[in-house]
Amino acid sequence: MTGTIPDMLSPEFAADPYSAYAVFREQAPLFYHEAMQSYVVSRYTDVERVFKDSAFTTANYDWQLEPVHGKTIVQLSGREHSVRRALVAPAFRGSELQEKFLPIIERNSADLIDGFRSTGSADLVAQFATRFPVGVIVDMLGLDKADQPKFQKWYTSIIAFLGNLSGDEQVTASGLQTKAEFAEYMLPVVQARRSALGDDLLSTLVTAEIDGETMSDEDVKSFCSLLLAAGGETTDKAVASMFALLLQHPEQLAAVREDRGLISAAFAETLRLRPPVHMIMREPAEEVEIAGGVIPAGKTVTALIGSANRDPERYKDPDSFNIFRDDLNTTSAFSAAADHLAFALGRHFCVGALLAKTEIEVATNQLLDALPDLKLADGFVPVEKGVFTRGPASLQVEFTPA
Ligand code: HEM
Repeated sequence: MTGTIPDMLSPEFAADPYSAYAVFREQAPLFYHEAMQSYVVSRYTDVERVFKDSAFTTANYDWQLEPVHGKTIVQLSGREHSVRRALVAPAFRGSELQEKFLPIIERNSADLIDGFRSTGSADLVAQFATRFPVGVIVDMLGLDKADQPKFQKWYTSIIAFLGNLSGDEQVTASGLQTKAEFAEYMLPVVQARRSALGDDLLSTLVTAEIDGETMSDEDVKSFCSLLLAAGGETTDKAVASMFALLLQHPEQLAAVREDRGLISAAFAETLRLRPPVHMIMREPAEEVEIAGGVIPAGKTVTALIGSANRDPERYKDPDSFNIFRDDLNTTSAFSAAADHLAFALGRHFCVGALLAKTEIEVATNQLLDALPDLKLADGFVPVEKGVFTRGPASLQVEFTPA
């Protein structure tokens, strides 16, 4: 790595990755980060290719996630991946989502809003965003809501393990301990559910069958661990970032308040400008030429979603928040035909994208209905936190108490 390129492990990068991304795109579209032991790509076309080209495998998850989750679908490829994905995907779309899970989403959002609507002020991160998606998954799976703080602690430690770019030993140790604690908690629950099926996602998972393939207790436990982390951390950041952006752009907030059909455009534009997941790794199975250089087989490559989504070659005025922009397709934004990269693309495209969209629509409608004159607290400026996943550290708001 040349001395002039910002260091992704520096505090300056953590404070403002966006200006570093611009330097990467312009001066070093492919570079090797020695300490991360990873090649890094940052331009839209290169990040898109890393997701779509099957030369780039997800073998990186063998060391990046398997030690904390066990084996899950993100690591698999080919037929093994498609069968496993087909076992779980129906629960996250269509009638399962609309009929079975929508009421859960509505109740979780309403309960949280009831906790602060009469007070006149709140931190939408601490009191809403961090609790809402994990509460939804806990209820979808039919787990004990009293244990939600445990799940929250576990998924935070898993995400820290996933994003442990500097190889911090304490983060590694805590991730490994989480795997043991989660297995101890979850395996008896999975076994008990097999003999007392209910109308919940865990019951769907233990009975799912495609082409004679089913999921073992260990598979189900590992998938639940993945769901808690993949669905908790990301939607949490998404809802907080979207409200931060709308509150900082009152005219666009007013437009969304007036026409709720604009929520999906506001969410898509948030995913482009402030993606909850800023980077995803891959491992090429063979030597690949990309971004004017070569990545040898078996090396790690980091694809910078946060940079690609702001590539001026792809989006006009890429650093501005504009829910009306005409160069982002907001109808395909939650499917594998998306033209932003926040859910990745290709065969590992986020299986929970429609669930996330439904959660954001419900939360936004309920928050806007319950808090008619919602605004940022006087003098409060949202500050983002995180390098691998990123979102506002807090979001202090004020409103007329209901
Ligand atoms: C705004 C919210 C979300 C964002 C930004 C997001 C982002 C992503 C990304 C970038 C990937 C690709 C990983 C890769 O290719 O290596 C992914 C995959 C995945 N996501 Fe999401 N996600 C979100 C919500 C959810 C939710 C709500 C769930 C479920 C509860 C979920 C479950 C998954 C799963 C299981 C995969 C793996 C799919 C596969 O390997 O085939 N995600 N997500």
